[in-house]
Amino acid sequence: MDLHDFDDVAENYDLYLEEMYRNEDNHAGFLDFYLDFAKEYGKDGVIDIACGTGAVLLYLAQHGIFADGTDLSEAMCRVAGEKARREGFDLNIFPANMTEFRSSRKYSCAIIARSGFMHLITPELQRAALLNIRENLVDGGMLTFNTFDPHPVFQA
Ligand SMILES: C[S@@+](CC[C@H](N)C(=O)[O-])C[C@H]1O[C@@H](n2cnc3c(N)ncnc32)[C@H](O)[C@@H]1O
Repeated sequence: MDLHDFDDVAENYDLYLEEMYRNEDNHAGFLDFYLDFAKEYGKDGVIDIACGTGAVLLYLAQHGIFADGTDLSEAMCRVAGEKARREGFDLNIFPANMTEFRSSRKYSCAIIARSGFMHLITPELQRAALLNIRENLVDGGMLTFNTFDPHPVFQA
């Protein structure tokens, strides 16, 4: 199993999220962090990089922030797009590698939520992504990403 390939799990990824956060009460706080961040820095556009099935993207849209989304996995993009359309949102969601994507516009706010950045497993890939994201931002644009020490039980 390739832990970096989400094509096979796209249809079930939201079930995983539901289970993962079932006994946690901090998921709303997690989403609100990105909402606050987008409100503060997103006046010239927001992009959710490695958007997955759109957990953050759709939360932003539900709160009036219509961000673009991109993800390496076409299947994850498709699921995110279907969910967005079902909720009546017409979002620009496109498959791309964060190390090399070019959007048709620039953004003042970029988000890589959850473990998106951690799928880049070499310093070279991480550097390529950061430099590339910089190219997609306006001057003074802001990026947030997080890293963490994976919990073996959750991973299993
Ligand atoms: C754990 S999921 C997080 C999805 C979403 N951000 C969320 O919060 O639910 C990680 C995502 O990163 C994507 N990903 C992995 N490597 C990537 C890359 N090089 N460029 C863009 N997306 C990537 C995967 O396809 C997957 O959808």
